[in-house]
Amino acid sequence: MKKLLLDCDPGIDDALALALAAGSPEIDLVGITTVGGNVSLDLTTANALSLREFYRLGDVPVTPGSAGALLGAGVRADSIHGATGLGGVTLPAPTRGVADGHAVDYIIETLRSAPGEITLVAVGPLSNIALAVRREPRIVEWARDFVIMGGSYTRGNHTPAAEFNIKADPAAASIVFDAGWEVTMVGLDVTLTAVVTESILDQMRSLGRLADLVVPISQFYGVVKADGGPAIHDAVAVAHVIDPTLLTLVPAVVNVETAGTYTAGMTVTDFKVDGRVPNAAVAVDLDVDRFWKLMLESYERLAAR
Ligand code: BDR
Ligand code: CA
Repeated sequence: MKKLLLDCDPGIDDALALALAAGSPEIDLVGITTVGGNVSLDLTTANALSLREFYRLGDVPVTPGSAGALLGAGVRADSIHGATGLGGVTLPAPTRGVADGHAVDYIIETLRSAPGEITLVAVGPLSNIALAVRREPRIVEWARDFVIMGGSYTRGNHTPAAEFNIKADPAAASIVFDAGWEVTMVGLDVTLTAVVTESILDQMRSLGRLADLVVPISQFYGVVKADGGPAIHDAVAVAHVIDPTLLTLVPAVVNVETAGTYTAGMTVTDFKVDGRVPNAAVAVDLDVDRFWKLMLESYERLAAR
């Protein structure tokens, strides 16, 4: 079992990523922390609480963190995820609330308590992780691995140059990439290939009560077609933790553009390392068929819970 701490902003694909973690026999989910991103912190936290119960995750703590970007106004993606973040689906109201304390303290104390054991996965803006790094720089040694869904070396989605999670808090992303650990960057270059097609959606329809969530949110996220559909970015980062052979990773030096008029939030990726210490392992290829096999097996296990 791999211990995983998930920092997220649910968010449709965050919800689909959490379902993968919840259904995988390989994952011991130790905690969920939330950040303002796709929608406000209040909503991402409310969604995480509802999802914890819908996925029958027991007493896995949900701890809220930063409401927004370290600098500037930040951005939201409610036009893509819906006004409340889950594509208009209303889950049963949660019966239990958040854990005491702040996500930044929770991340630090959880990693401190088990050095080298816990993989930290961030699938939202990097505000919580940057604050944690600043407050306790040793978390970069304590984390077993650090994986993000974010960035790209080829293109953006929120702007032509910038992927949403990085654009939502470029200063935080810059701090995180410069912190002295190796960031596994699972960016748009690969996540845009992880799409829900008609055939995948058909298989999701037979997931019992889980289908009541995963089918409508996938349809809300984008137009499902025979040969295309919405990309469920965040799930790829979690899938990598479960099966590291799904992605091809290449070492690189990544710098985050924080000031460009047209390029703020761009992850400027130099594969020509030339004797420098790479700060990132950048995903360049995803085995899409095996990714979906892993997803659907985990979803079936979760649906049977
Ligand atoms: C990322 O942006 C968010 O809208 C998604 O949840 C995902 O984390 C994709 O660019
Ligand atoms: Ca997300």
